[in-house]
Amino acid sequence: MSKISHHNKIILIGFMGTGKSSVAEGLAQALGWDYMDVDAEIVRRSSRSIASIFETEGEQRFRQLETEVLQQLLESADTAIIATGGGAVLKEENRQLMLQYGLVIHLSAAADVIISRVSRDTGRPLLQGDLTKRVYSLLDQRKTAYDFAHIEVDTSLLTIPQVVTNILETWHNANNDT
Ligand code: S3P
Repeated sequence: MSKISHHNKIILIGFMGTGKSSVAEGLAQALGWDYMDVDAEIVRRSSRSIASIFETEGEQRFRQLETEVLQQLLESADTAIIATGGGAVLKEENRQLMLQYGLVIHLSAAADVIISRVSRDTGRPLLQGDLTKRVYSLLDQRKTAYDFAHIEVDTSLLTIPQVVTNILETWHNANNDT
């Protein structure tokens, strides 16, 4: 078995609109693993939407909650697929935790694909205002933020099941490598 297959967590990182939550669900189904979503867990615990936390308590407080939840999910003994929010990679502490506990998969997508995928969703506080400008500006700020992942899959031209299959193939090849 190769190094990456020793972990009991698969962690999906990537910019907003790259399909993290849907792919996590698909992977969980295919592997028979649990599926956990950091943002959904924050919402569940605080009984508020992400937008409301940003609005009333600010992004910094959201980032604290994000680190707390991420750490707890990663430290749990269960085997699980974990979907993170697009900004969960911004803190070094979070990046170290992810690398310590799991196989980290970066889902990427072209800017125009991201814009079209998120355009009907008003729940993302960081994308309020001029959507195109916001996406390009954040993509630029984060251009190397996801580079620490073990694997990158460009989802621009793929369906969710295709992304899932692609990851499972990489996973199986890694298991059969050594
Ligand atoms: C954020 C991404 C969102 C959510 C929050 C902040 C970001 O998650 O965590 O709005 O900083 O990129 P998704 O990537 O699931 O949209």
